[in-house]
Amino acid sequence: MTIEMPSPPRIKKGVIVKKYSEEDIYAESERLYNKINQKERWTVDICKTIAPLTLEINQLKKEKDVFLIAHSYQTPDIIYGVADEVSDSYSLSKSARDASQQIILFSSVRFMAETAKIVSPLKTIIHPSPDAGCSLSDGISAGDVRELKRLFPGVPVACYINTTAEVKAECDVCVTSSNYLKICERLPGDKLIFVPDKFMGKHLQNSLRGKKEVIIYDGECEVHAIFTGEKIRNWRKRMNAQGINLTVLSHPECDAEVLEESDIVGSSEVLITKTIELSENGEKNVMLITECGTVDRILAETKNDLNVIGACVMCKHMKKTHLEDILQSLRNPTSEQIIELDDEIILKAKKSLEEMFRLAE
Ligand code: 13P
Ligand code: SF4
Repeated sequence: MTIEMPSPPRIKKGVIVKKYSEEDIYAESERLYNKINQKERWTVDICKTIAPLTLEINQLKKEKDVFLIAHSYQTPDIIYGVADEVSDSYSLSKSARDASQQIILFSSVRFMAETAKIVSPLKTIIHPSPDAGCSLSDGISAGDVRELKRLFPGVPVACYINTTAEVKAECDVCVTSSNYLKICERLPGDKLIFVPDKFMGKHLQNSLRGKKEVIIYDGECEVHAIFTGEKIRNWRKRMNAQGINLTVLSHPECDAEVLEESDIVGSSEVLITKTIELSENGEKNVMLITECGTVDRILAETKNDLNVIGACVMCKHMKKTHLEDILQSLRNPTSEQIIELDDEIILKAKKSLEEMFRLAE
C-alpha cells in the first residue's frame, strides 16, 4: 500500500508514566504493532514507547468504569490502543447517549464532547483537550443564527453537528455528514436555513433544487476545503493513461466540484466501510479525499492489497489529543476538561439532536 502520510505523533513530555514489567511492555507493544498495522511508521520501538501509557489508561478505565470513545480522526495509538468505540460523529453521539457507564471520555474535538453532554446530561463527560476546536464550529455564533432567523422568519433551521451547544440551541434540527440529505429533505416547507458549512450547503442546494430553497452560511472545514476537482481530474488522467481505474471517495465537507468528481461521498465511517468493501471485491486503487485518520483506519482494518493514492490532509484540531492528555485527564481532570453547559442550553440543544435521531432513523 502506498500513501504519503504524516509521521506518528511525538511522545509528549510532562506526564510521569508508571513502570511496567518488561514482559507486559513487550506484550502490549506487540498488540499495538499488530493492531495499528503500519509496520514502517509505527515500528515495534515506537509501540514500546507508547505501551506504558496504553497499559495504564486501560487499567484506569476499568477501575473507574469509564467508556472511552474516539473519533476516527484521532491518531492510531488512541484508536487501537485505548478506545472502546471508534466511529463518525453520528454514531458516536448515539453511543454516548446509550452508554451504560456514567463517565465518558471523548477523545476528539470540543463540539463532539459537548454533543455527548447534551444527549446525556447526567453523565460526566471528560474532554482531554479543551482547546481542540474546529474551523466550522468556531466560525459561527448563536447570534449569527438569531440574525438569520430574523431575516428569514419561520424558515426551519438545520445545523451541522460541527457547532457549539449554543448554536445547536438556536436550531430546529441537527444533522451530520451521514444524514444531512435525508433529514433536510424531510423538513417541512419549501425553504430551509442550513449552517454553517457552505460546501455541504451547496451540495444540499444542488440536491434539493426544484423542491426547496436552501439559505446557506459562509463556514468551511479548513481541512476539506483544501481539495480541488482539478487534482482529482489530473490523477484520474494519469492513472487512466496507465490503464488503471481509480475509485475516488470524498467527505461531503468538500467543494461541490470535488463531490461531482467522486464515485462515493460519505461520512468518515462510510468512507472506511466502502473502501474496505471495495478492496474485498478486488479494487486495487482508491483515492481518499479527506482527513488522514480515515486512511490510518483503512490501513489497519483491511487485509487486502490496496493502493491509497494521493495525500490526505491532517486536522490539527483532531490531532491535539495525545495519550498523555488522556492519561492525565483520567487520573485527575481539570475543571476545563469536564464539560459543563448551561441547563437551558442543554434543554434546547437536546431538542435539535433528538429531532435528528428521529428523522435519521
Ligand atoms: P463525520 O460525521 O464523518 O464524523 O465528520 C465529522 C468531521 O468533523 C469531519 O471533518
Ligand atoms: Fe472541523 Fe474540519 Fe477538523 Fe472536522 S476536519 S474537526 S470539520 S476542522
